[in-house]
Amino acid sequence: MSEEEFDKRARTRELAAEFIERGDPLGWFDALYKESEGDTEKIPWADMEPNRFFKVWAESTGLKGGGRTALVVGCGLGDDAKYLHDLGFKVTAFDISPTAIEWAKKVYGDADIRFEVADLFHPHRDWLGAFEFVLEIYTIQPLPMDLREKAIDAVAAFIAPGGELLVVTRGREDDEKPERLPWPLSRKDLSRFEHKGLKQASFEVLPDDTDDEPAPRFVVKYVNPQHVP
Ligand SMILES: C[S@@+](CC[C@H](N)C(=O)[O-])C[C@H]1O[C@@H](n2cnc3c(N)ncnc32)[C@H](O)[C@@H]1O
Repeated sequence: MSEEEFDKRARTRELAAEFIERGDPLGWFDALYKESEGDTEKIPWADMEPNRFFKVWAESTGLKGGGRTALVVGCGLGDDAKYLHDLGFKVTAFDISPTAIEWAKKVYGDADIRFEVADLFHPHRDWLGAFEFVLEIYTIQPLPMDLREKAIDAVAAFIAPGGELLVVTRGREDDEKPERLPWPLSRKDLSRFEHKGLKQASFEVLPDDTDDEPAPRFVVKYVNPQHVP
């Protein structure tokens, strides 16, 4: 583990704890983006390339947009939005952090991607049930556990009938306690998507061999049946 890597994760946890303690579990994201002052080295998840677990899945399944609509939840600096755009999706990407969205627009503003500041918990009404492909990478896991079900319900609500959702997350066993941020998801946590009427289409567990805090990644595809029972 490099000194730098340790520091940015430690700073992220410190900032998150401060905000959570004062009852503002969503405020630290923008604060972190702001205090990084444009330095991606200070943002633990900023790779400036598509998420590698998502890319492995997309390549192995031959993912193509073909003009379908896609929504990227908690898009951060927009790398996955750009990847979907390049695969032929018509992409909307949102994040609660105005600083992240401004940054994403600077990096990928030339691409025809709709970047928006929005809160998962108060989304635009016309986004509900509107997207053929929804991508959620690492947005649920840093939210406090008491928001987990609400977050899952909110993500599920974006998928059009017949549409798909892909979730990439750190994973843990059902009987394992999530110790510290980011709090990995268990299969039991994820089963909430099925309670919301989605059908699990595939579930892959990918090893994490490069991260300094390794955790398996769950890459899970859901489909929204045309007729929700
Ligand atoms: C761990 S980061 C992951 C970012 C990006 N998905 C990636 O993998 O690089 C979580 C992102 O979710 C955003 N976020 C957190 N809570 C949110 C909410 N309620 N609505 C929208 N975005 C949110 C944060 O600002 C942050 O950019």
